[in-house]
Amino acid sequence: MSRTVIVDALKRTDFGAEVNIKGWVRTRRGNKNVSFIALNDGSTINNIQVVADNEKFGDEYLKPITTGACISVTGKLVESLGQGQHVEIQAEKIEIYGIADPESYPLQKKGHTMEFLREIAHLRPRTNTFGAVFRVRHNMAMAIHTFFHERGFFYFHTPIITASDCEGAGQMFQVTTMNLYDLKKDETGQIDYSNDFFGKQASLTVSGQLEGELAAMSMGAIYTFGPTFRAENSNTPRHLSEFWMIEPEVAFNEIAENMQLAQDFIQYCVKWALDNCKDDLDFLCNMYDKELIERLNFVVNNDFERVTYTKGVEILEAAIAKGQKFEFPVSWGTDLQSEHERYLVEQHYKKPVILTDYPKEIKSFYMKQNDDGKTVRAMDVLFPKIGEIIGGSQREEDYLKLKTRADEMGVPTKDIWWYLETRKFGTAPHSGFGLGFERLLLFVTGMSNIRDVIPFPRTPNNAEF
Ligand code: 4AD
Ligand code: MG
Repeated sequence: MSRTVIVDALKRTDFGAEVNIKGWVRTRRGNKNVSFIALNDGSTINNIQVVADNEKFGDEYLKPITTGACISVTGKLVESLGQGQHVEIQAEKIEIYGIADPESYPLQKKGHTMEFLREIAHLRPRTNTFGAVFRVRHNMAMAIHTFFHERGFFYFHTPIITASDCEGAGQMFQVTTMNLYDLKKDETGQIDYSNDFFGKQASLTVSGQLEGELAAMSMGAIYTFGPTFRAENSNTPRHLSEFWMIEPEVAFNEIAENMQLAQDFIQYCVKWALDNCKDDLDFLCNMYDKELIERLNFVVNNDFERVTYTKGVEILEAAIAKGQKFEFPVSWGTDLQSEHERYLVEQHYKKPVILTDYPKEIKSFYMKQNDDGKTVRAMDVLFPKIGEIIGGSQREEDYLKLKTRADEMGVPTKDIWWYLETRKFGTAPHSGFGLGFERLLLFVTGMSNIRDVIPFPRTPNNAEF
């Protein structure tokens, strides 16, 4: 008989029907006569209750059905008289696929710290919390593709191995061709460990933007959605060495349209979560963050505030004059820290903020320069609890200005000659941005550490599994 997933079984009302379900045991409890097994198969946060007659199956047979064991249950769907679910399964046949020895299975019923769960990343998707987070993660990926597809954007695949440095910060992981097994065998240093990709220098990409711009300048509107890498040694709750980024790029869009796209995009994704992840969000809201749902609804229903960097700095300076304390100093020209960004969002405007027109010195070479000679058409979207969630800009479309700025900033233009050519052949105004997928997930799930919204977090010194 074919398997019914628990999310579907829980919706059924055809009591008396025979069904088969398979899943992992959350708990087993009971009395002399019956055992109640809470079973979960990952399709939903909700468990289904299996009721097994002790006499029918025998105590010895039921004994190994402990937390974490995997079983297959065939039985009748019956109306549940207990609280919670309206349906349960009266077991007729139980097959044990795999036991989980209670002495060594780490996920017993008690609560666990996030730190402990990070050490068992291979098992943590079996917990309610991580099941919920990863289902939301899946749903957000679907929302992203649907949003862009509905608007006529093309999903464009940019390379992971690249010779260019989009952000011009030099913080890239190098790709090498050395043989890992030779390395293990050899203690004598006979092997060539040189950093090269078959004789050329290559790195893991920090952003698909440069290639995305080429695509926009031929296909109109595109987006990328893939892993990106940063080799900075940042140990914070908001930084990963490997994270996923969504980068739309649109020909003919100027900065105002770029801002509107960013707002529409985030609001669409958050609304998608509210519409499609109700059970998981309710669970996360109750468990970790009582204001989560309220915050998500607020973001969907309110415009983001658009403020210039200069105005933002004025607000921060005024706050400091009134006694507000920050760890890092602020004055015109300094890069804002997340404490500053969060002050603007959480204390001052009390809504998401799009900060624009940053000093050119603190932004990348490719941003369009304003006529004041000091600022560029950058836009960062700042979010409550997160700080920067999006970084983007209108791009410099003028060949000479772009080349000059790259040279001034020490960006090796020999590596991006192909990028510069877009400005020689049919250049046009265009804009785009990058949304950090895990930062969006932090916001949507209410989790407080970025390591807890990606299945296998990569942070400095952490790549075990
Ligand atoms: O501001 P960033 O560095 O911008 C770019 O890479 C541009 N090339 C994007 C573009 O215009 N197409 O990064 C964009 C976003 C940030 O706002 C943040 O959400 C996320 O990527 N991000 C990180 N997320 C997790 N860990 C890190 N180390 C991150 N660095 C950036
Ligand atoms: Mg940025």
